[in-house]
Amino acid sequence: MKQLMTARQLKLAVLASGRGSNFDAICRAIERKDLNAQILVLISDQPQAPALAKATARGIEALPINPRDYSGRDAYEERLVRELEARQVDLVVLAGYMRLVGKVFLKAYEHRVLNIHPALLPSFPGLNAQQQALDYGVKFSGCTVHLVDEGMDTGPIIMQRVVPVLDDDDQETLSQRILKEEHELYWQALQLIAEGRVWIEGRRVVVKAD
Ligand code: GRF
Repeated sequence: MKQLMTARQLKLAVLASGRGSNFDAICRAIERKDLNAQILVLISDQPQAPALAKATARGIEALPINPRDYSGRDAYEERLVRELEARQVDLVVLAGYMRLVGKVFLKAYEHRVLNIHPALLPSFPGLNAQQQALDYGVKFSGCTVHLVDEGMDTGPIIMQRVVPVLDDDDQETLSQRILKEEHELYWQALQLIAEGRVWIEGRRVVVKAD
């Protein structure tokens, strides 16, 4: 078994394409001192993402990097990696980052990129996970924090939280119920890593006692 990271105050970069509510929830956990981490930079592939303004409002560096300014995914990810390395980031936190991570990024940050997905993986990967759950008719869904690999929401699972699906749910009500749990789960998973308690072997992630 390999320890994901020795205990430390985590130096994080957050990548977000949109609204940034998970980013905000992580910031609040840091402020409350529930999470031993600092966020060095918020990077967005969408120059108009509300997450950028949220970072600026909190005094966190907000860095737009538009993939359209690059010749292809490799060139775009080389820039990302340069920015992350320049800040000596320990972990990259994807929070509503709407792109697949490619090999350039993963080679530089293997087992150091996390994502949160609004379903109980491996069910309902990809877009519109909450609607997929409703359409399928499951009675429970939830959210998953996982390590990122080259697939779509396929990396090793760190933590999951279950949420009931109610008979009168629509996409909006189910998404809200799941999002509330996302906002707790993400910082809790990060804190376990900060405590040096997360170990990995193959696909299996084990959280060890203190
Ligand atoms: C969340 O539902 C997250 O699970 C998914 O994208 C959404 C991002 O929301 N990956 P926000 O930008 O953090 O508010």
